[in-house]
Amino acid sequence: MSTNFPACGGRMEYVCLGCGARYPHDSLLYACPKCDNVFLLENPDFSSLKKYDGLYWRKLFDERTASRSTALRGIFRYYELLVPFLAEDDIVYLGEGITPIVEAPPALRSIVGVPFSYKNDGQNPSASFKDRGMACAFSYLKWLCRRHKWDEVLTICASTGDTSASAALYAAYVGPPLKSVVLLPKGKVTQQQLSQPLGSGAAVLELPGVFDDCMKVVERMAERHNVALLNSKNSWRILGQESWAYETAQWFDWDVSGLCVFVPVGNAGNITAIMCGFLKLRELGVITALPRVFGVQSEHADPVYRYYAAPPQQRRWQPVRVRASVAQAAMIGNPVSFPRVSALAERFIAEGGENSFQMIQVTEQQIMDATLLANRHGHIACTQGGECLAGLVNAKILGLIGEQERVLLTATAHSLKFAGFQEMYFTDSFPPEYGVTPDKSLDNRPLLLLSENSREGRSDADYAELAADALAERLQLEKK
Ligand code: F0G
Repeated sequence: MSTNFPACGGRMEYVCLGCGARYPHDSLLYACPKCDNVFLLENPDFSSLKKYDGLYWRKLFDERTASRSTALRGIFRYYELLVPFLAEDDIVYLGEGITPIVEAPPALRSIVGVPFSYKNDGQNPSASFKDRGMACAFSYLKWLCRRHKWDEVLTICASTGDTSASAALYAAYVGPPLKSVVLLPKGKVTQQQLSQPLGSGAAVLELPGVFDDCMKVVERMAERHNVALLNSKNSWRILGQESWAYETAQWFDWDVSGLCVFVPVGNAGNITAIMCGFLKLRELGVITALPRVFGVQSEHADPVYRYYAAPPQQRRWQPVRVRASVAQAAMIGNPVSFPRVSALAERFIAEGGENSFQMIQVTEQQIMDATLLANRHGHIACTQGGECLAGLVNAKILGLIGEQERVLLTATAHSLKFAGFQEMYFTDSFPPEYGVTPDKSLDNRPLLLLSENSREGRSDADYAELAADALAERLQLEKK
């Protein structure tokens, strides 16, 4: 126990985005019992936080960077803005959050034509931003188990690969009474993503179809059975992911005015969380102006883009049937959080003006080219991170980025999870449905220096000599 852990005892409420009904925080709810709409969580005593000014909160959060309480080292650095009734022992910390923001080097900046940075959320424990939400959801689950003395809880999620990796990791860490089950669209998560829940010991179930099919199944499971759903329909996940906004504001010394933030949109949980987080900071006076938020979608999975591309009077929500996408983790045609995005976008625009929320569409070719371009300049962007860079390039072409503005992209997962798409690019083996043709100038593959049997019958010294000569020849190096 540490002495600097804040006094707990606050409350949260589920607020329905359809009918406005409110429910207390002591049971796990996903959809409004009255109208079936999704929730956001709100602190009913939020106004009491306003008795302190923005400076107070900035100072408190800055001081916590030196906290010796493990529970406050990650996303719960912002405890008062997250779950203010958790005890220190409830908090699950696996090293999530506080991810770095890395500037594009000058060469890349000049190719793109705009200075920008990446926030590397692939540097989370399961190598994606999902860990922010899971840390929050599992901490809340621990609290629930303690309160209700539950002796077994089955956690369940559908996933394009990262939610499942994260859920399985946190469940493995917490252990009983929690057990993890994940449902994946067969063949539509990468090998690396699949290995994660397997390694964590989760029950891994595959279903022919796409993510949207799996999501419907787990929603039904959550309606009919006693399971804890861990998709972003679970608002505790969204709450934890708000930490992305808090950290970003803190990184820029609490000034995000003139900042354009690019976020890939799949199930639309993350963009919701990011907007919620910035709005909360603005309301508390921690920041004085909102950044602009750009959601990015591939033309192979773009329902949110299509909605906002229509003139306001003609907007009609319409899920789409997805096509193969290299931004596979965001390949979702019927995002569960669409009602949240539309509510938040309205609040964002009311607060920050017409241009403070926009959707950008990109092609598969642009996503792949941008991913490789970023990584050839020292970034570690996944394909969804590449999607953000492609979004920036298109936003610039459309004249949406001002001269004086700063740009922050999010690399939502680590590049290694998506190595298979890089491999397809280098070997020119994309199935035609992706519509990706490799740029040969980016090609890179290993070269075998000596033939397979060249090691046989040679001493270590001879072999090293032979290989060194072959290498020097390959590199066309003169002897000194
Ligand atoms: N980037 C990555 C790496 C993701 O894994 C996801 C979503 C997104 C972007 C889109 O974020 O859904 O909040 O809009 N992955 C989910 C999953 C759906 O199951 O792992 P979103």
